[in-house]
Amino acid sequence: MQNIQSYIQEHKDRFLSELIELLKIPSISADSAFKNDVIKTANAVMESLDKAGCDTVELCETDGYPIIYAEKIIDKNLPTVLVYGHYDVQPPDPIDLWDSPPFEPVIKTTELHPEGAIFARGSCDDKGQMYMHVKALEFMTNQNQLPCNVKFMIEGEEEVGSVSLSKFVKENQEKLSNDVILISDTGMIAKDVPSITTGLRGLSYVEVEVTGPNRDLHSGLYGGAVANPINVLTKMIASLHDENNHITIPGFYDNVEELSTEERAQMAKAPFSLDSYKKALDIDAVYGETGYSTNERNSIRPTLDVNGIWGGYIGEGAKTVIASKAFAKISMRLVPNQDWKNITELFKKHFESIAPKGVTVKVKPHHGGQGYVTPIDSIGYKAASKAYEDTFGKTPIPQRSGGSIPIVSLFEKELKSKTILMGFGLDSDAIHSPNEHFGIWNYLKGIETIPGFYKHFTELYK
Ligand code: BES
Ligand code: MN
Ligand code: MN
Repeated sequence: MQNIQSYIQEHKDRFLSELIELLKIPSISADSAFKNDVIKTANAVMESLDKAGCDTVELCETDGYPIIYAEKIIDKNLPTVLVYGHYDVQPPDPIDLWDSPPFEPVIKTTELHPEGAIFARGSCDDKGQMYMHVKALEFMTNQNQLPCNVKFMIEGEEEVGSVSLSKFVKENQEKLSNDVILISDTGMIAKDVPSITTGLRGLSYVEVEVTGPNRDLHSGLYGGAVANPINVLTKMIASLHDENNHITIPGFYDNVEELSTEERAQMAKAPFSLDSYKKALDIDAVYGETGYSTNERNSIRPTLDVNGIWGGYIGEGAKTVIASKAFAKISMRLVPNQDWKNITELFKKHFESIAPKGVTVKVKPHHGGQGYVTPIDSIGYKAASKAYEDTFGKTPIPQRSGGSIPIVSLFEKELKSKTILMGFGLDSDAIHSPNEHFGIWNYLKGIETIPGFYKHFTELYK
């Protein structure tokens, strides 16, 4: 019987080459041109779970992309871990800013990754992190060290709102029954500062359309005399924050949970360097809501951001025109207790109410989801903490993240179990950005740490 360290030593080249093959398939869920590739990826994931030793593997068809379900049940009296991940990826745009093609993975070293990092879309989010679980399972089944039951549920629509998965979870509660849900789709503070994500923000995503005149107009003949939808839209957007960067939508903060002084002091203990933060982003100052630190602004506070804005002439040279329409995509990151549907309604009502005469406004809600917090005294959290202690030699720090995995709150509601977020990515991995990468060290450390979770969870469960 081999231990995990020696198993990794022996198989790490294959662990890398298998992941690289998976990363070559452009499983972009947002773009229907890649439909066949998304499905091809689903099949590849299914095959990998079969090879890793699952007894049952299924490709579950949905109205959208398939969900891969797999399980290995060794004893009904033992606990069951449900692993969730996603095989779809974000579009790679802007493609010109990649140093190497997003779907031709290459290994390069960086300052933070002297051991090398795999550069490819999805390397960290989430193919690389999802695949750590497949390889950890391979080790446990291969070396007879699987201490409990395991179920896998890997979806292909996370980056577009998990619509099919929501339905799947509601309709398959029995099949998905479990004692804890385990996800690696977040990050950690630093390679030498392990952390467990204890919170995720919720999300409300909307698109707005401002319409002025019935056609594009000559900006000389009409300029100044009719509402310019782009001028109006930008003014309306600017008014959504006040001088302290508080959001001005009435009722927006009504259910926001304020952390106690003690909780905030606890948070402030996590290692953080404002200088390195600014340097990594080439900015001379941070920016945000008055009265909160950077780490608070991006985790425990709700925000509103324009994600894209367009209208009028953006081609070469100058065209004198007042556009008939202007558009923007706006996201609001929410904190636990804020209801995303309610926030979407509040936004719509407010945005329509601040439109001046001379334009009409349409607000189209996209997807959303609730935020999530998980306690640090659950056996799941304790098991994860012990697993990190074994492989990092340090107790991990609980940390709330600013990102969202909206399906997690639905898991708790429908499946009545807690989710443990063991993320191994770093902020500098550039997920969703050009040159996304995942450190080889992080990838292997994840594979090394995961079996410890199963072991400690099974022991603590007794
Ligand atoms: N894996 C991310 C979320 C994430 C990353 C959480 C890092 C915490 C730390 C996930 O794939 C993602 O990108 N989620 C989207 C929301 C989704 C509805 C499109 C997000 O957060 O923008
Ligand atoms: Mn993800
Ligand atoms: Mn993502």
